Amino acid sequence: MTSSRTQVGIVGAGPAGLMLGQLLHLQGIDSVILENRSRHHVVERVRAGVLEQGTVDLMREVGVGGRLAREGLRHDGIHLAFNGARHRIDMAELTGGRAITIYGQNEVVHDLVEARLETGRPLHFEVEGVSVHDLESRAPHIRFQREGTSHELICDVIAGCDGFHGICRPSIPASRLRLYERVYPFGWLGILAEAAPSSDELVYSLHDRGFALYSMRSPQVTRLYLQCAPDEDVAQWSDERIWAELRTRLATADGWRPNEGPIFQKGVTGMRSFVAEPMRFGRLFLAGDAAHIVPPTGAKGLNLAMADVYRLSGALAEFYGSGRERLLDCYSGRALARTWRAQRFSWWMTSMLHRSGGDNPFDDRRQLAELEYLVSSRAALTSLAESYTGAPLEA
Ligand code: FAD
Ligand code: DHB
Repeated sequence: MTSSRTQVGIVGAGPAGLMLGQLLHLQGIDSVILENRSRHHVVERVRAGVLEQGTVDLMREVGVGGRLAREGLRHDGIHLAFNGARHRIDMAELTGGRAITIYGQNEVVHDLVEARLETGRPLHFEVEGVSVHDLESRAPHIRFQREGTSHELICDVIAGCDGFHGICRPSIPASRLRLYERVYPFGWLGILAEAAPSSDELVYSLHDRGFALYSMRSPQVTRLYLQCAPDEDVAQWSDERIWAELRTRLATADGWRPNEGPIFQKGVTGMRSFVAEPMRFGRLFLAGDAAHIVPPTGAKGLNLAMADVYRLSGALAEFYGSGRERLLDCYSGRALARTWRAQRFSWWMTSMLHRSGGDNPFDDRRQLAELEYLVSSRAALTSLAESYTGAPLEA
């Protein structure tokens, strides 16, 4: 077994791990990023698309905002559709100018991988058998295999950025974690289609047949989602069936409907709310999906991951700059405060916009009452806009 040292060992090259590596690099802090999938898999994985202003600013500040500035689509508002009518919410006007930017998570990851490679600092794909050890000591270490050789990486700190199914969170003794979880009785069928967006802004729609979301990736590509069963079989969804369902759920009485075109990607995502507390065990710090999952309706998952590593990098800068651990000690509490705000919002958006399949018509009618109230109240719309566009990263 070969043995080496680094300051921060980062498990996972998703948005959280890659952004942390870049933030540390800019502060002169060494890191090694270990990823068990291939570079192609990590960069091509289709996921989220909505960036809060704080995430956009962070990308620019760490030097990876060039393509995002050119190709990202700034949206000042969103639409809510129900009862056959669309209602525009002018988020920028309600929040004093805050907006969101549409830019695929795979593009974010692509830009961060390129930036990492330029730094020359280690980023290893396709490592196997990753495990973390001696987490409560001052020299925690990571073991893994790479190209047939076993390695041991001794660290000051390990950042668990390995997503919901990673190994870092399960390496914490169960007695030292409290888990909160809600699994929803539905999922999303998501597609990408070669079709010019017929709306300039996103449309979140509640229909009797369930939720639908109209989004986009570029002036040529639309991204659409349909509420479906959590274990829906994509093979049962022909392109024609998908478009028919989208037309039914999205078309509004003003004549608006989605543009259609060839579908080139389909996938089903289950939906859950999940939080692990605390986000720290000894010298292991969890960030992003490794610590928490939100249902995607509020578009918060990627943005929360960015907020976590921004906070963690600040704490590590203090640690290496002065030897003090004050911010490291605050990390979990502060990150969890933001996490729970996003949990509340994501749960609320999800409950308001999905049919839960219950058999009490009261619930369906109350859901409409909630939407009717929302679009008629500036106070309620301001609350939505404030949460949707996101608080500054420090908050
Ligand atoms: P991840 O992106 O999961 O990255 C973790 C990385 O760690 C991965 O590259 C993984 O391969 C790697 N890894 C795992 N185990 C190991 C190991 N043992 N060793 C080394 N590396 C490991 N959010 C939205 O806002 N809107 C959406 O539409 C949306 N859709 C989603 C669809 C899917 C299928 C999923 C899973 C998530 C979706 N999300 C969405 C959530 C959003 O994509 C995540 O919140 C975001 O990816 C979190 O980033 P992360 O870096 O914390 O985790
Ligand atoms: C997208 C994803 C979301 O979860 C969301 O709430 C809005 C848009 C998207 O992939 O474009």
